[in-house]
Amino acid sequence: MPVDTPEIRTAMPPVPSPPAAPPDAPPGAPARPGAAPVAAAGTHLQAREFSLFYGSRQALKKISLEIPPQGVTAIIGPSGCGKSSLLRGFNRMNDLIPTARSEGELLVAGMDVCLPGTDVVELRRRVGMVFQRPNPFPKSIFENVAFGLRMLGLKDRAELEIRVEDSLRRAALWDEVRDRLDRSAMALSGGQQQRLCIARSLAVEPEVLLMDEPASALDPTATARIEELVLELRGRYTIVVVTHNMQQAARISSRTAFLLQGELVEYGDTRQLFTSPREKITEDYITGRFG
Ligand SMILES: Nc1ncnc2c1ncn2[C@@H]1O[C@H](COP(=O)(O)OP(=O)(O)OP(=O)(O)O)[C@@H](O)[C@H]1O
Ligand SMILES: [Mg+2]
Repeated sequence: MPVDTPEIRTAMPPVPSPPAAPPDAPPGAPARPGAAPVAAAGTHLQAREFSLFYGSRQALKKISLEIPPQGVTAIIGPSGCGKSSLLRGFNRMNDLIPTARSEGELLVAGMDVCLPGTDVVELRRRVGMVFQRPNPFPKSIFENVAFGLRMLGLKDRAELEIRVEDSLRRAALWDEVRDRLDRSAMALSGGQQQRLCIARSLAVEPEVLLMDEPASALDPTATARIEELVLELRGRYTIVVVTHNMQQAARISSRTAFLLQGELVEYGDTRQLFTSPREKITEDYITGRFG
């Protein structure tokens, strides 16, 4: 099918212009013209009494929270508290776990993505995900970024090249790989692979980026680059980052959610949560008394 058909045009958003909101724009600042629409001015992602079970074991207990458009929200808490489970809910990645079952609602731009009629492929285009371990495909750098675009039906080489370059630039990787796009992605460093995975997500024009400990497998220099990148991207995307590293949460996020044993203990302004938490148990966690 030629790429210029109206159907493909509808499915493929135009190559975007740079974000109008400055990198240090506060969360909720106006997005660039033509940014992906969100349901209400104040809320992009929302959990309403969301519970998740693996078999008979309950991993998340009636979580309710609202995440505004743009900006970075951190999810912190000890191992096993349910951070990844909550993150995966927003693009239905828990579907891949046969024993997983949910109750309650998870809304993306006002639509409950848990409903059976949800177009999961389209949901995952809108809500991209980056994992702890970089997971490039064993293909060239170019083909890694072009992958999602090809899946959406884009075949025109010139258009693909424009979009691959744009995505690599946005992921702060272009200058390092521009002269070796046809080389294997597996030959990149871990930090470069992670930025490639971010470029791969950005290529299909998501609204949301879910990042599950995106820097925990990387050295300090590569970690710093990922953190810089997250700060650059926050004016344009709604970013949710799971991290074990509380300094990292404090550096990159404007809101933080603290989970403990499947419950949302506290959620609010990052600075406030780290300097004067409302709950004693939050204070105990952030001061390292447990976890
Ligand atoms: N595929 C699965 N099958 C069964 N139980 C699971 C599965 N994945 C997670 N769990 C359980 O659900 C709970 C929450 O796990 P989850 O991975 O969401 O925690 P987490 O906060 O991301 O932990 P970590 O910081 O170690 O990554 C844990 O008790 C875990 O053992
Ligand atoms: Mg996890």
